[in-house]
Amino acid sequence: MKQDMIVILDLGSHENTVVARAIRALGVYSEIYPHDITAAELKALPNVKGIIINGGPNNVIDGVAIDVLPDIYEAGFPVMAAGHDKALCEVKLAQFANDEEAIKEAVKGFVFDTCKAEANWNMKNFVADQVELIRQQVGDKKVLLALSGGVDSSVVAALLLKAIGDNLVCVHVNHGLMRKGESENVVEVFRNQLCANLVYVDATDRFLGLLEGVADPEQKRKIIGTEFIRVFEEEARKLDGIDFLGQGTIYPDIVESGTKTAKMVKSHHNVGGLPEDLQFALVEPLKQLFKDEVRACGVELGLPYEMVYRQPFPGPGLGVRCLGAITRDRLEALREADAILREEFAIAGLDKKVWQYFTVVPDFKSVGVRDNARSYDWPVIIRAVNTIDAMTATIEQIEWPILLKITDRILKEVPNVNRVCYDMSPKPSSTIEWE
Ligand code: XMP
Repeated sequence: MKQDMIVILDLGSHENTVVARAIRALGVYSEIYPHDITAAELKALPNVKGIIINGGPNNVIDGVAIDVLPDIYEAGFPVMAAGHDKALCEVKLAQFANDEEAIKEAVKGFVFDTCKAEANWNMKNFVADQVELIRQQVGDKKVLLALSGGVDSSVVAALLLKAIGDNLVCVHVNHGLMRKGESENVVEVFRNQLCANLVYVDATDRFLGLLEGVADPEQKRKIIGTEFIRVFEEEARKLDGIDFLGQGTIYPDIVESGTKTAKMVKSHHNVGGLPEDLQFALVEPLKQLFKDEVRACGVELGLPYEMVYRQPFPGPGLGVRCLGAITRDRLEALREADAILREEFAIAGLDKKVWQYFTVVPDFKSVGVRDNARSYDWPVIIRAVNTIDAMTATIEQIEWPILLKITDRILKEVPNVNRVCYDMSPKPSSTIEWE
């Protein structure tokens, strides 16, 4: 890394990620480190220009107040929050809560005047640096990457491709629970347009076979997650001479994995949790980036807009939206209804405004009337939510004419559906997904 860096030492503030983002928005690279980092460790980090010590309401662990090690102040870096200023700084930054603009103003003088940091953090430099670092790490060895088609794995794929070309082997596992056209799009962009080495595995029958009759949400999630690893592992064993595994780990994954108080609501399945006996070294070139920076990196690398700005999609895919025991016909109805919703959201410009939107098909039917005859078919539920961090969410208040048009199209175009509902529930008390 050639970029100058401001280090934030975490004394239990929720706002540290916002402070780091604000400094990066000023064009200076910033990372968060635990409060107990030693002066030697700090000095070993590249291009540190200054330190911000930032505390908050969580600065007590097991009843004991935490503080940085005393020799941090003697490490030779400018420190914001030093001496009597310390309490002042904590209060000041905490006051701004999540206001990035206000934090920028508060730290600007320190970053540029005191630390003399250079504003050289941008995606062009990041990509150039990473290409060099990846080449140094990997040499002429091969890297395997599970390419789900999500933002993170797509950007890692594009970055690795730029760095090592043919020595990158991407594996795309279609578990049969992808959205309409999604797997085809991954093949089109990476194999046909970017000429990446891509192994495409259609494992639809295998997944749907295992899921047959399984109604419990956690069991479904477990089956999908475990089977995903199994299929990927089988493909990996077929390939010769792979030494590295690429992963789309991003900065919030690293920062959040430090949280000790989080309670599990549902198990999340992400591509990449592989068994240790595969013995790959990891390549994680995005691990310093926030999500919006990952997107900017994707744009810098020339990936299509829709891929880079794609809404979040859970690892178990449509499997957690086709409620209860999955059947092929209900899954197909869900996929079609979801495609209509996405199309209409794009027409109305809501795709750029709403954080996440999708359909759900429950495993019960209701009575309706079609062509003067009784019908007994499934409902489709529409969900559209906005959130900052997916921990809480509010619903999008969609205008009636848009909802009516979507409803009309779903009822006309999707077989075996006779009712459309809109989910009004915030998180909490609901979660964003239904399972
Ligand atoms: P919930 O339903 O927990 O979802 O409110 C919060 C966000 O996480 C996404 N989600 C997942 N993402 N693997 C993922 O990568 C998963 O297993 C998973 N489950 C839920 C969900 O779509 C929402 O954006």
